[in-house]
Amino acid sequence: MKNDLHESHAVPRLGLAHGRRPLAGLSGAGEKRNDGAVRLRNLTKRYDRFCAVDDVSIDIAAGEFVTMLGPSGSGKTTVLNMISGLTEPTSGSIWIGDRDVTRVGPQHRGLGVVFQNYALFPHLSIAENVAFPLRMRRVGEADIKRKVAEMLTLVRLPDVWKRMPSQLSGGQQQRVALARALIFDPPVLLLDEPLSALDKKLRESMQFEIREIHRKLGLTVVNVTHDQCEALAMSDRVIIMRDGKVVQSGTPQTLYEAPTSTFVADFLGTSNFLCGTLHEIGSNGTGVLITEGGLRCRVSGSDVHPGKRVRLMLRPERIMLDDVQDADQRLSGYVAEVAYTGELVRYRVVLSDADLIEVTLQNRKGHSIQKELGSAVTVGWRIEDAHLFSEVD
Ligand SMILES: Nc1ncnc2c1ncn2[C@@H]1O[C@H](COP(=O)(O)OP(=O)(O)OP(=O)(O)O)[C@@H](O)[C@H]1O
Ligand SMILES: [Mg+2]
Repeated sequence: MKNDLHESHAVPRLGLAHGRRPLAGLSGAGEKRNDGAVRLRNLTKRYDRFCAVDDVSIDIAAGEFVTMLGPSGSGKTTVLNMISGLTEPTSGSIWIGDRDVTRVGPQHRGLGVVFQNYALFPHLSIAENVAFPLRMRRVGEADIKRKVAEMLTLVRLPDVWKRMPSQLSGGQQQRVALARALIFDPPVLLLDEPLSALDKKLRESMQFEIREIHRKLGLTVVNVTHDQCEALAMSDRVIIMRDGKVVQSGTPQTLYEAPTSTFVADFLGTSNFLCGTLHEIGSNGTGVLITEGGLRCRVSGSDVHPGKRVRLMLRPERIMLDDVQDADQRLSGYVAEVAYTGELVRYRVVLSDADLIEVTLQNRKGHSIQKELGSAVTVGWRIEDAHLFSEVD
């Protein structure tokens, strides 16, 4: 099923063969293309009564690198497959550039697609795998040869063209899949968890490489992952999905620093939540949170009123440990757990019977950050680093 897309690149929309562009962006590095905007309007996909994608509207600008991020089953692949044409929407519309492609078959959309599981043709050499979309477009032999060589250089595999897919590592196969998806100069590249089968180091280096290729070619990339680090590291914008809906969309920094719900806060990075009720409300949106464990914390927010049930969210790296002279809020506790991870040391600090928080400290030279298990510590934070959510957000 998945190979259908590669096997059916029968539409000659290739720039090379028709003089549109010499080679996907390599000559005009960084230049944005105007045929790569993706517009989803009220897109819905139902399977019987189950709604896998629920009224999703997204505008992706030409040349943007967007990642859809969300838990398993949140509808990411279904959205991507509707863009590629592999899944037919129940309702709504899909536009690529100024074309309504909602009822257009995948082979006529001219999009590049890379799936999680390489999907190379096992019986074809690497060169023939990469050449495949061009053969389908009946491009001349000399152009194919030149372009395959350029694509394999682009993905840093200039010397493997004679080999078979089984003679390459997972990471190398994924680069070949990328070269094959890019060779016919698509305006949009769709990536569905392309790096998830790779080990951490390779995944991180591929993240940089895909970013670099995106910058060189200036095409639109729609990426899908459930790896939050990958989403933050690679994307211009991240779209967070939950239960078939978009819950928040923004730059990695906005989502991390200003999540609008505890779901997003919890999904992106590590979050501490102190839960309780608001008291002693001041005139300028300040108050005191009394937690379930009886702690008193000064808070500030846009909707504070007495008796309101809230959750105060703190990022572990924004909490000070012992070195608390810059803090607006200080609390005492003891170290219940220490995990040394090399670049960081992670502490679990018990503040009360019901309040436990995680604190991470950078392992910087000259800083003594080792705290003994059970030792008494003071934690602190600045009020602006503590985000207040109502209990139901
Ligand atoms: N052909 C199908 N028939 C019935 N339900 C389906 C079908 N395809 C997907 N679903 C359901 O739709 C929901 C969304 O699936 P989707 O594959 O889009 O999730 P996802 O966000 O990509 O998850 P993952 O991170 O696990 O890949 C899931 O609950 C899934 O079981
Ligand atoms: Mg998926």
